[in-house]
Amino acid sequence: MKERLEALREEALASLQHVEHVNALQELRVKYLGKKGALTEVLRGMGSLSAEERPVIGQVVNDVRAAIEAVMDEKQNFFQQEETNKRLNEETIDVSLPGRCLPTGSIHPLNKVAQEIEDIFIGLGYSVAEGPEVETDYYNFEALNLPKDHPARDMQDTFYITEEILMRTQTSPVQVRTMQASHGETPIRIICPGKVYRRDDDDATHSFQFNQIEGLVVGKNIRMSDLKGTLLQFAKQMFGENSQIRLRPSFFPFTEPSAEVDVTCAQCGGCGCRMCKGTGWLEILGCGMVHPRVLEMGGYDPNEVTGFAFGMGVERIALLKYGIDDIRHFYTNDTRFLSQFARM
Ligand code: DAH
Repeated sequence: MKERLEALREEALASLQHVEHVNALQELRVKYLGKKGALTEVLRGMGSLSAEERPVIGQVVNDVRAAIEAVMDEKQNFFQQEETNKRLNEETIDVSLPGRCLPTGSIHPLNKVAQEIEDIFIGLGYSVAEGPEVETDYYNFEALNLPKDHPARDMQDTFYITEEILMRTQTSPVQVRTMQASHGETPIRIICPGKVYRRDDDDATHSFQFNQIEGLVVGKNIRMSDLKGTLLQFAKQMFGENSQIRLRPSFFPFTEPSAEVDVTCAQCGGCGCRMCKGTGWLEILGCGMVHPRVLEMGGYDPNEVTGFAFGMGVERIALLKYGIDDIRHFYTNDTRFLSQFARM
């Protein structure tokens, strides 16, 4: 039996020498090592061996199988390598062919402007606060000195969810939330960007949802001149070094005194043009000294501390900065409009 096995080995290795194709290799694999192959055939005859012979012959069978398999694997690898090389040679790549251009997005102009505003105030030492868009009547109105029957509530048509819960109409409620969370500590210096909601019909200058940035400073000896200096600094950074501002007396229930702020028209430099309707000035925000009642509701003693606040619409600032005539451009996602801001 041993001789038979040795002969088998010789025969297999000899035929492997001449193999030139994977298919032929596969055939030999079946012929010698397969279920009905020559080696299996020999194994079947092992039943007739004596107990002493069996392990000896078993060992020989294993050796023969290992020898044949080793050569077969070697051949197999060789064929595979050959196949790969052939493919690599055939499939040459034209590296000079220009790649396909993938369209890339850009930062939305509203986000860009909001970020710019945030950066300016962060540079002045402010931090960024946030508050909920679904707000209580208390924070949106009452704590801002607007009791239930106050006529100034009509200034902001409100989406009510229940009698006490609403979509915030302004970012001003974050003023009181921040003061309460500060537990009487000073100074407070925050801005709060966020979405606000009003029951307005959409048109070129109105939207039921838009973005505001609120500012609040509370501390000892905070004065109107601090407010004015801060806003002038902001205007210069946002609209250009030559910008000037002016404060016009106004009314907001949560500030006293209150003012509206105009900046010199960036389009005409203040000479008067279509954009500023010939006045040379553009209104950019509302502001004032925090009303003593609001300080009280925030947990501060109005005899000890004072503060100023301001609030601006991001859409409006973006319209003025880029000379856009309709805020609906910001929401309709026409890429021809949006892509203009890609590299600005
Ligand atoms: N919340 C006001 C509005 O939406 C804007 C505003 C005005 C905010 C004066 C302020 C402020 O903080 O002091 O019309």
